[in-house]
Amino acid sequence: MAPLTRQTIFLLLVLIPLSNAALDSNYYAKTCPQAEKIILETVRNASIYDPKVPARILRMFFHDCFIRGCDASILLDSTPGNKAEKDGPPNVSVRSFYVIEDAKTKIESACPHVVSCADILAVAARDVVAMSGGPYWNVLKGRKDGRVSRASETVNLPAPSSNATQLIQSFAQRGLGVKDLVALSGGHTLGFSHCSSFEARLHNFSAMHDVDPSLNVEFALNLKQKCPKIHRDKNAGQLLDSTASTFDNDYFKRIVVGKGVFSSDQALYNDFRTRWIVESFARDQTSFFKEFAASMVRMGNVGVVEHGEVRAKCNVVN
Ligand code: HEM
Ligand SMILES: *[C@@H]1O[C@H](CO)[C@@H](O)[C@H](O)[C@H]1NC(C)=O
Ligand SMILES: *[C@@H]1O[C@H](CO)[C@@H](O)[C@H](O)[C@H]1NC(C)=O
Ligand SMILES: *[C@@H]1O[C@H](CO)[C@@H](O)[C@H](O)[C@H]1NC(C)=O
Ligand SMILES: *[C@@H]1O[C@H](CO)[C@@H](O)[C@H](O)[C@H]1NC(C)=O
Repeated sequence: MAPLTRQTIFLLLVLIPLSNAALDSNYYAKTCPQAEKIILETVRNASIYDPKVPARILRMFFHDCFIRGCDASILLDSTPGNKAEKDGPPNVSVRSFYVIEDAKTKIESACPHVVSCADILAVAARDVVAMSGGPYWNVLKGRKDGRVSRASETVNLPAPSSNATQLIQSFAQRGLGVKDLVALSGGHTLGFSHCSSFEARLHNFSAMHDVDPSLNVEFALNLKQKCPKIHRDKNAGQLLDSTASTFDNDYFKRIVVGKGVFSSDQALYNDFRTRWIVESFARDQTSFFKEFAASMVRMGNVGVVEHGEVRAKCNVVN
């Protein structure tokens, strides 16, 4: 057998596939029965004060699971010797960590040292979806919290410029299939993007085209008004679908007509492996909801740590 290259070892360590962890929807039934109620109340209250919270929590869970598995590594702060994931390059809209920290503080006073931050984030991600009009599912629990978080690893997240092949590979490395990719991309039914994530499609796109030809012409003009020059206004941007605080299938209807904000969104319609799934979700919201819930459960199993610590505070290891 060929010796393991550094690259292979890196992949083995970082891109942990689906684990066989025995997560359980009743995991805290005896030890902290009130945990989910506390999380729901905290998330609901925070979302009333700041309507951006649901989208941010949903994205936070995705980023957590894709880097080192769903182990709350996204919640750790940088330390003097180590730059953490939350300070890594694609961090422009991963915020609202305080919501998970608040839920944790309340849960620690009800049942100390029992409920992991990774589980709190998984439950909160379900709650923000249900609260926004999306599906509800039972969250499997029993994850433990990781002790390592490295900014340098966030380069392994899929990029908004990724093509369908790259997206399929990125999901496959985590044990997720093509249907999971399309269903979970439907998370872009919530929230907002900064110009920096899509402006390359609007200006000097390629030698042949100034604007990405897969963009709907009218929508491209609209985006250009919001992002007239590269790096102009770092706060400007675009909502990801026309009903950005409602969880629905509008995102899929928009990609069918060339109005996906990212190349990675539009790529799902322009590739035969994913196009039929996009079309079916655009036609049938019920099937999108069902598949989204199932895929969130599968994503929640990625790289789960079963033996580890339950942090006392979500932003620092014990
Ligand atoms: C398929 C690969 C994906 C890529 C390339 C991608 C990329 C991005 C980018 C670039 C942004 C905007 C960041 C900014 O400029 O502010 C964004 C936002 C967002 N993403 Fe994704 N994403 C992907 C998958 C997902 C998944 C699986 C979910 C959750 C299930 C998700 C949920 C979100 C949400 C909710 C937002 C809005 C955040 C906010 O409003 O603050 N994304 N994504
Ligand atoms: C509700 O959220 C606001 C804003 O985050 C916070 O100031 C307040 O203390 C919260 N109230 C409860 C009961 O959690
Ligand atoms: C994002 O990363 C940059 C560079 O490391 C850092 O200065 C900034 O504070 C981070 N932003 C957030 C919201 O964590
Ligand atoms: C997708 O991107 C990869 C890496 O940049 C490239 O090698 C490949 O040809 C692209 N595939 C398609 C179908 O464009
Ligand atoms: C557009 O891209 C070409 C080739 O990459 C480059 O030579 C040119 O300077 C760019 N034009 C602008 C306006 O950025």
